Amino acid sequence: MTTTDETRSPGALEAELERMLAVETFDPPAGFTRRGPIDADVAAAAADPVAFWADKARELLTWDKPFTKVLNEENPPFYKWFEDGELNLSANCLDRHVDAGNGDRVAFHWAGEEGERLAVTYADLLAETQRLANGLRSLGVGRGDVVGIFLPMIPQVAAAMLACARIGAVHNVVFGGFAATAVKERMEVSDAKVLITVDGARRKGRTAPVKSAVDAEMGELASLEHIIVVEAVGAAGLGGQRAPMKAGRDVWYADLLAAADPVCPAEPMPAEAPLFILYSSGSTAKPKGILHTTGGYLLGATYTYRAVFDLDPATDVYWCSADVGWITGHSYIVYGPLANGATSVMYEGAPDYPDYDVWWKLIDEYKVTVFYTAPTAIRACIKWGAEYPDRHDLSSLRLLGTVGEPINPKAWLWYHKVIGGERCPIVDTWWQTETGAIMISPIPGVTSTKPGSATRPLPGYSPALVTEDGQPLSEGVGVLVVTKPWPSMLRTLYKDDERFVETYFSRFGPTTYLVGDAARLDADGYFWIIGRIDDVINVSGHRLSTAEVESAIVAHEAVAEAAVVAQADEQTGQAIVAFVTLSGGRIGDDATVAELREHVAARIGKLARPKRIIWADDLPKTRSGKIMRRLLRDVAEGRALGDVTTLRDPAVMAALATKVAEAG
Ligand code: PRX
Repeated sequence: MTTTDETRSPGALEAELERMLAVETFDPPAGFTRRGPIDADVAAAAADPVAFWADKARELLTWDKPFTKVLNEENPPFYKWFEDGELNLSANCLDRHVDAGNGDRVAFHWAGEEGERLAVTYADLLAETQRLANGLRSLGVGRGDVVGIFLPMIPQVAAAMLACARIGAVHNVVFGGFAATAVKERMEVSDAKVLITVDGARRKGRTAPVKSAVDAEMGELASLEHIIVVEAVGAAGLGGQRAPMKAGRDVWYADLLAAADPVCPAEPMPAEAPLFILYSSGSTAKPKGILHTTGGYLLGATYTYRAVFDLDPATDVYWCSADVGWITGHSYIVYGPLANGATSVMYEGAPDYPDYDVWWKLIDEYKVTVFYTAPTAIRACIKWGAEYPDRHDLSSLRLLGTVGEPINPKAWLWYHKVIGGERCPIVDTWWQTETGAIMISPIPGVTSTKPGSATRPLPGYSPALVTEDGQPLSEGVGVLVVTKPWPSMLRTLYKDDERFVETYFSRFGPTTYLVGDAARLDADGYFWIIGRIDDVINVSGHRLSTAEVESAIVAHEAVAEAAVVAQADEQTGQAIVAFVTLSGGRIGDDATVAELREHVAARIGKLARPKRIIWADDLPKTRSGKIMRRLLRDVAEGRALGDVTTLRDPAVMAALATKVAEAG
C-alpha cells in the first residue's frame, strides 16, 4: 500500500488535489538522483547541435561503416544524416547486447490478458528475429520491400519489426485496433509484398477473428504475395476451426520459422535506407505515409530514451502502455528500449480487464521502475478510483511519463500523488510520428516541472514559436515550428514528396518544419501545447483526421453529407461529433445512429466512431461551398455563435443550434 486508506478517502484526495492545483512549479523530488549526466549534453548541443548529434551517433550506435558526413543540407527539406555510414538496426538492438554477454537479460516480460507470462530474453529475440528474417527472405522479401504488420501486443510483433530491419525490408505496422479495411488501404498504398498478421486477437475475455476479416478485404491486392499468420489463439479461440489459409499465399508463422535457417547475419544498411512507414492522419482523408530512415531514427530513439527515462538497463524495469502500432510503440516499446538494452513489460490487454487494477498489479509483480502512459488513460484511472492502485505496492516506481496530448493539471497531480507517491518526477513528453523521437520534455531530476507543460526542448532540438506570419516569439501564443533539422525527422511522405513539402515546409519555407500544433511559451521558456491547428482530432491520444471520418460516414448509402468536428471531452481529450444530412429526406433515429457508428468502426476502427451524431437539414457553408467547421465546433461545445454573415444561408446555424440544444 502506498498510503493509508484514511488519506485516500475520495473526499480527502479531492481536497488535497485541489490544494495542489495552486502549486505552479514542482522541483525535482529530493529523493530522485539522476543516473546519467546531462549537463555536458546540454552545453554541447547548444554550442553545435550537428556536432553534438555526430558525437552521440558514435557513442551510442554501433556502425558497420563509420560515417564521415554528418548532415547534408544541400536540398532542404530533404535532409540526410550520416549518409555514408552503414549500420543495422536489429544488430544494434539485439546482437550487440548478446555479444556483450547480456543474452540472458529479459528484453520483454510479456503478460497475456488471461494471466499468461513469458520472459523473452535478448538471446531469444535474436534467435526468433534471425529465423523470421530468413523466412521473409524465403518468401522473396529483400531490401526496400514493404512488409505490413498487423498484430496485437504479442512478442512476435517486435520480432517482426526487427526481422524486417535485419534484411533491409521496410515495415508498415498498422495499429491492431484498426479495421481490416484500413489495413487493406495501408497495404495498397505502400505496395506491401507480405503481411504478417494473426489468426485472432483477444480483448477483454473475447476473441475476435483477425485473419478471416483480413482475407475478406485483401482479395484483390496485386502487390501482396504472402500472408504470414501467427497462430495466437488457435482453433480453440476461433470456435473450433483454425484460421482459413489460402494455399500458395498464406503460411503459418511457426512453419516458416521451423523451416528457416537459424542464422541470418544482419545486413549493413546505409544510414539513410528507409526503415519504416507509419501511416498517420493529416488534414485530408488520405493517411500520410510517414517515412523514417535507419541511422537518424535510431539515434533519436536511443538518445532520447536514455535522456528522458534515465534508465539503468541492468536494474530498471520499464513499461510503456502504448500500442506498438503507434509511433510511441515503435520508438519507446521497440527501438529505444532495445537499443539501450532495457528490460520492458509488454502487456497484451486492456487496463480494465479482468479488473481496474490490472496495470498496478503488473507494476507490483514486475517491480516496474519507469512507467510511460497517456493522459487519457490516467483520466480513466481517476474515474475508476484510487482504490485500485492503492491495492498494490507501487513503491518500485521511480519515474513516470505521459505522451499524446496535453495533460490537464488535475490528472497530472493525481498521477504524481496516487501513482508516483510524490517521489517520482513526471516527464510530459511532446513529440509526433513525424519527429520520430521526443523533442520537448523535462529532464528528470533536473527540470522543475509545471503540470500541463512539456517544459523545454531536449538537447539537440530546436522547436520554436512563431506568429502566424512567421515572426519569432519569445513569449506568448503562436504556431509551433522546428527551426533546424534533427536526425530522427521524417524524410518524406511515402511516394509523395510533394505532399511532404506542402504539408510541413511550405508555410514558412523549406528549412522551417511546421508542426501543426499551437503552443504558448511562458517567461521561463516552457512550452505549453494547446492543440492542433489543422483538421486533426486527438481522441485519447490517437490522431484522426476529420476528413477521414467524414469520408467514412458519407460512404454510407443513407448519408448525403457530413461534417466532423472535435469537441472537448473530459475523458478522451477530444471526442468526435458528426453533423450528418441524410439523403432523400430520411429521418435520423437511434437505429441510424447505431448503424452509422458501426459503419465507421468497420471502415476505420472503433476509435473513430463519432460520440455524437447530430442530424442536420443543412450544413453551414460559405458562398464558395466550404463547410465552416469552426462554427460547428462552437455549436457542439455550446458556445455563442460568432460571425455568421459569411455564410450562404445564415439561418442554418440557428436551426442547428436548436437541434444541438434539443439533443442535449
Ligand atoms: O498535438 C500533439 C499531440 O499529438 C500530436 C502528435 O500525434 P502523433 O503523431 O499521433 O504522436 C503521438 C505520440 C507521440 C502532436 O502534434 N501531442 C503529443 N504529445 C503531446 C501532445 N500534446 C501535448 N502534450 C504532449 N505531451
